[in-house]
Amino acid sequence: MQHPDSILSLLKKSEEFLKKKEISSARLDAEILLADLLNLQRVKLYVNFERLLNETEKNAYRERIVERSKNKPTSYITGQKAFYNSLFYVNENVLIPRPETEELVEKILLDFKDEAKEIKVLDLCTGSGCIGISLKIARNDWNLSLSDISKEALEVAEKNTIQILGDTNHIQFFESDLFSSIPRESKFDLIATNPPYIPNSDKESMMKDVVDYEPHLALFLENPKEFLMNLIEAAYSYLNPGGKFYMETLPSLANILVTESIDKGWTNGKMEKDLSGKDRFVILTK
Ligand SMILES: C[S@@+](CC[C@H](N)C(=O)[O-])C[C@H]1O[C@@H](n2cnc3c(N)ncnc32)[C@H](O)[C@@H]1O
Repeated sequence: MQHPDSILSLLKKSEEFLKKKEISSARLDAEILLADLLNLQRVKLYVNFERLLNETEKNAYRERIVERSKNKPTSYITGQKAFYNSLFYVNENVLIPRPETEELVEKILLDFKDEAKEIKVLDLCTGSGCIGISLKIARNDWNLSLSDISKEALEVAEKNTIQILGDTNHIQFFESDLFSSIPRESKFDLIATNPPYIPNSDKESMMKDVVDYEPHLALFLENPKEFLMNLIEAAYSYLNPGGKFYMETLPSLANILVTESIDKGWTNGKMEKDLSGKDRFVILTK
């Protein structure tokens, strides 16, 4: 018979509770929330099944499970999300970084692997800073700028810059509605962006975890095609000749965005699929 305060008993009880509340990843989430609370790796829970939680730990765990049962994403409860090779701090002012965006980082690094030149890079719509900071870790010689319309998001990006890169030296931050507050004379060799791209009309059909907790400013637009074409057009004037533009986007728009960009004077353009086979990325060359 297991003690009711043991890790094993509390995990079972939490899993059952979350299942009743229709949380699909009930067991996994119960484990993540407990491991993080106890400052253990998740696998270590399995060798500590008999360990008893004290009153403070039990109360804190109960609180976390109740929050999760109300659909709050585990990353907002733990305040962190693993992305590419780092652990990013997140709160409800920034999108929780997604695996597709890791693919975008991977593509850029692969395409630039033979580029020896020190280049200027802008991560537009940076949110937590996950794209730009991950690029900078891999390519310390690159000159990085991060921008977002949200002051609160930029504060998170700055915190991650310090936590992950050690300091904010040589990194520029712009609080800017797209390019409006980025000096006209700034010119970049690479602009990478994961902007909002989901139509408002999709809200109804999306998971409560996302709609109730993630910032709508990071996700939804009334007219994604118009917003993204404006973004692409503005990016053109901020790139050096031959500069590259990488954007994550709505699969149903990827093709038309590439075609219209070529019509408007970009030298080269292509779309690429994500690992689930969706037309997720737009890659353009000035
Ligand atoms: C989809 S999130 C991406 C965040 C992060 N780059 C990532 O991949 O996880 C989009 C970000 O764009 C920002 N944003 C929305 N509208 C913007 C605008 N007009 N100009 C600049 N940033 C904007 C939001 O605040 C949000 O942080």
